[in-house]
Amino acid sequence: MTDQRTYLEVKRTVDDRALNRRVLERFAEGLDARSSPVRILEIGAGIGTMIGRLAAWDCLPDEIAYRAVDRDAESVRYARERVPEWLEDAGYAVDRVDDGRGETTLLARSGERRLEITLEVADGFEIEDRADAVIASAVLDIVDLGRAIPAIEGLLEPGGLLYAPITFDGGTTFAPRDPADNRIERRYHHHMDAVRSAGGSQVGRELLWRLPDAGWPVLEAGGSDWVVRPCTEGAGTGTAMGYPDGERAFLEGLLETIDGALAELEAAEREFGIGDLEPDERRRWLGRRRSELESGELVFVAHNLDVLARRPE
Ligand SMILES: C[S@@+](CC[C@H](N)C(=O)[O-])C[C@H]1O[C@@H](n2cnc3c(N)ncnc32)[C@H](O)[C@@H]1O
Repeated sequence: MTDQRTYLEVKRTVDDRALNRRVLERFAEGLDARSSPVRILEIGAGIGTMIGRLAAWDCLPDEIAYRAVDRDAESVRYARERVPEWLEDAGYAVDRVDDGRGETTLLARSGERRLEITLEVADGFEIEDRADAVIASAVLDIVDLGRAIPAIEGLLEPGGLLYAPITFDGGTTFAPRDPADNRIERRYHHHMDAVRSAGGSQVGRELLWRLPDAGWPVLEAGGSDWVVRPCTEGAGTGTAMGYPDGERAFLEGLLETIDGALAELEAAEREFGIGDLEPDERRRWLGRRRSELESGELVFVAHNLDVLARRPE
């Protein structure tokens, strides 16, 4: 079993490659235009990957108050260990300040840069705040958008920015091809749309009409597809090929998620009798994909969108 922390840790390099630089650049320009200190609220921050990334990639203005919330206590605990390490790798000196009530603030400094970070356990759509920017990375596709958009509007200053990168947008593909791939993909997406309690398989493009419908200008949008493939260095020389930076665990986690979703769908279909994929076929497909992963042959591509929008004035 790949736990959530391991999955988010190995997802980091996959996202690093995928993030749409044009959308990110526009987001960084938007942050620069706000007055100091710029208040960023990240909802569903997971293990805090985005904080380390924005600092390392020089995307933050000089003075930042960064509030990161996630409803998963284990991820937040892990983030409290990991974020200082990433910031130190990015050249920041980091102090931990305890408030005596169990909350820790991280104070990170690098030259003129001041970054004050709190990491807390909370439902990001239930809190109160007034931020210059809200980040929701790989989050809006698993929550109820009807609840999320008004909640984010209430959390942002007028004219504040919503940055929603890595929002899933309806593409789950593997290579080499298998005859069951199309049915697997269709069923996996159907599970997201009809069985899972919230979210959906095409939220990326949904944001592109839902936000303008609610009065939000979309400032920038672009693809941020995940591409995970074995290293090709050494190909043809007999050298075993592997996946970079432990990304094999990312694919293992993903195959588990797909299998779990399809098994749940099968259980629902047994009740209503509408299946088009036998459990044996699903197990064969999974076995094939796992052995291709083992031998370093499996290629995975998923389609995501990065969206940057401005809260109505
Ligand atoms: C796919 S993970 C993405 C984590 C991180 N943003 C990243 O890209 O690595 C989704 C995260 O959203 C969190 N989450 C989902 N709904 C939430 C909510 N209502 N409030 C706070 N966190 C939430 C989950 O606990 C999980 O950590």
